[in-house]
Amino acid sequence: MKLFVGFIPFVCFSSIFISIISCQNVSQESAYETATRALAISQAHIAGMLEKAKDPTRIPRTTAPDGSLKTTHMYDWTSGFFAGNLWYMYEYSKDESLKSEAIRWTEALEPLKTFTGHHDLGFMMYCSYGNAYRLTGNESYKDILVESARSLCTRYNPVAKSIKSWDYRKNWDGVTEWFFPVIIDNMMNLELLFFASKVTGDPYFKDIALQHAETTLKNHLRSDYSTYHVVDYDTLSGEVKDQATCQGFTDASTWARGQAWGIYGFVMMYRETKEPKYLEAAVKMADFFLDHPNMPADLVPYWDFNAPDPDFHPLWIHEKYQALDYIPRDASAAAIVCSALFELSTFHIEKGRDYFEKAEKMLVTLSSAPYLAEPGTNNNFILKHSVGSIPHGVEIDVPLVYADYYFLEALLRYSSLR
Ligand code: GLY
Repeated sequence: MKLFVGFIPFVCFSSIFISIISCQNVSQESAYETATRALAISQAHIAGMLEKAKDPTRIPRTTAPDGSLKTTHMYDWTSGFFAGNLWYMYEYSKDESLKSEAIRWTEALEPLKTFTGHHDLGFMMYCSYGNAYRLTGNESYKDILVESARSLCTRYNPVAKSIKSWDYRKNWDGVTEWFFPVIIDNMMNLELLFFASKVTGDPYFKDIALQHAETTLKNHLRSDYSTYHVVDYDTLSGEVKDQATCQGFTDASTWARGQAWGIYGFVMMYRETKEPKYLEAAVKMADFFLDHPNMPADLVPYWDFNAPDPDFHPLWIHEKYQALDYIPRDASAAAIVCSALFELSTFHIEKGRDYFEKAEKMLVTLSSAPYLAEPGTNNNFILKHSVGSIPHGVEIDVPLVYADYYFLEALLRYSSLR
C-alpha cells in the first residue's frame, strides 16, 4: 500500500469531460496522458459504484454469472479493497464526499480486528484501515490495525515457522488434504505486521513477518524463481508435506496471480528490511514474470504461465474452462505486478529504468481497451478481464475489485514517480 513521498495529484477533470472520455487510446497520447485519462475514468466508475452499492456490509467484489453486481460479506478476503479504492480515489481527487464514503466503508469493517478465521486479515485491514490511517492520522485506526495484527499472529506456528493461510481443507479434487497450508499470497499480509511493530515499538510482529518470509523463500520458490501456490507443513516436524496448487493449472505450473503476490511481497520485504536477499528474490521473480516465453506482448499474462504449454497436463480442469475457445488473461496479476514494479524501479540501480518502463507499458495497456471499461459499463468496476479461480470454475474473465485496487495504486505510484 506504500505510496511515495511527493505524490502530485493529476489534474482533475470536470464531470462533463469525464462523461465524454473514452477508453480507446487516442493516437499520439503520451503514457502520462493515458494514465490521467484512466484516473478520470476510474473516478467515474467509483462514483457509479457508490450509486449502486449503498450498504457497506455488502461489499462489491465482481460480476455474477447473471451479469449483476456480486457483493460479499466482510469475512471474505476481498472485503477491504473497495474501501481502499475509495481512499485512493480520495487521495487523487481530494473530494471530501469520497472521504466520507471511504470512512463509512472502512469503519464497517471494525469487527474484523478480532477475526482469526484465515490469513487474509492483512489484505482486509491494511488496504482499508491502513490507507485510512495514512490519509487521516486518526489514532483509533492505528489501534484497530495493531489489534488486527495481533489477531493475524495467532495463526503463526513456530514449528512450521509460518502463518497458516487456511484451516484444514480439501482441494477441489476432493481428495488432497492440507493440514497447515500456506499460500504464496500470504506474503501480502506481512505489511500489516511491519506496520504494527513500527507503531508499537514491539518487534514481536516484525519477527513473525521475517520468519514467515524466510520460510516462504525456502519452500515456495523453485530454482527458476517461479512459485508454488500452496505449501503444506507438518506441524510436528516442520517438514514440507506438499507443494501444490489450488488456483493454478497444475502443481508444477506457475499461477500468474500467485507469482504477482510473491513479487509484490518480496519488494515490500526489501523496503521494510533492506535485506539484499529479498531484493534478489523480487528481481528474479519479476524477471521470470516479464521475460516468460508465454508472456503476451501487451504484458498482461495468461491466468497461468503454463496454460498455453502442450506439455502441461492437468489431471482435471473445470468444464467451464474446457468450453472456452481462448485462454483467459488475468488483468489482476498485471495490475499487482505493475504497482510492484514501480516500487522495485526505485530500489534497483541497474535495472530500475527497465522496470519503470515495463511498469509504464503495463499501465498503458491496462488503461486502454480492452482492459479499461467504459464509464457506465462493467458494473462500475474499472478493469475487465481478470480471473478468480479457474479450477473452481468461478470468476473466469470478469472484473475483480482487487484488480482495481492495485491498478489505482499503480496509477498513483506512477504519478508520484514522474
Ligand atoms: N488471495 C486469493 C487470490 O488471489 O485469489
